[in-house]
Amino acid sequence: MIKRKIQNELNEQLNKEIFSSYLYLSMAAYFERNNLSGMSSWMRIQSIEEHEHAMKFYDFIIKVGGTVKLKAIKEPKNEWKSAKDVFEDALAHEQFISQSINKLTDLAIAESDHATKTFLHWFVEEQVEEEATVQQIVDNFKLLGNDKSGLFLMDRELGARTLSAQSAE
Ligand SMILES: [Fe+2]
Ligand SMILES: [Fe+2]
Repeated sequence: MIKRKIQNELNEQLNKEIFSSYLYLSMAAYFERNNLSGMSSWMRIQSIEEHEHAMKFYDFIIKVGGTVKLKAIKEPKNEWKSAKDVFEDALAHEQFISQSINKLTDLAIAESDHATKTFLHWFVEEQVEEEATVQQIVDNFKLLGNDKSGLFLMDRELGARTLSAQSAE
């Protein structure tokens, strides 16, 4: 049986992943409104992936005999200054999530909960990937400056992203 303290934190993380999904959906809608359909599509996929992250926590809590407790989802921001501003926010959000996963791992170690620690390992690696991907996009925006044709090309490039095999199932 999982410790109450860890169960609570896993439920908190489940909520954060659902919020991530909600935030990226809000970003997708912003891009939709601003005729950046490639970036919108990229964010919709990101939103689906975050929902999957939430479901990994949901399944794990049940598997270890815990109780899933769903909490209120915070209202995400829905307006940004520019496409670059959106991706900078996405990067800050991923950095926040990485910190949260690290803290959760620290707790699992402190409580000698090896099952939870092993479960979290996937997320530790995933966060490295996510931060690197979004950082790369932010860096590209910096190179672009105010170049409109560059923005058009970036929209096309980001629109090429497809759902990962796991998500497409
Ligand atoms: Fe996530
Ligand atoms: Fe993420």
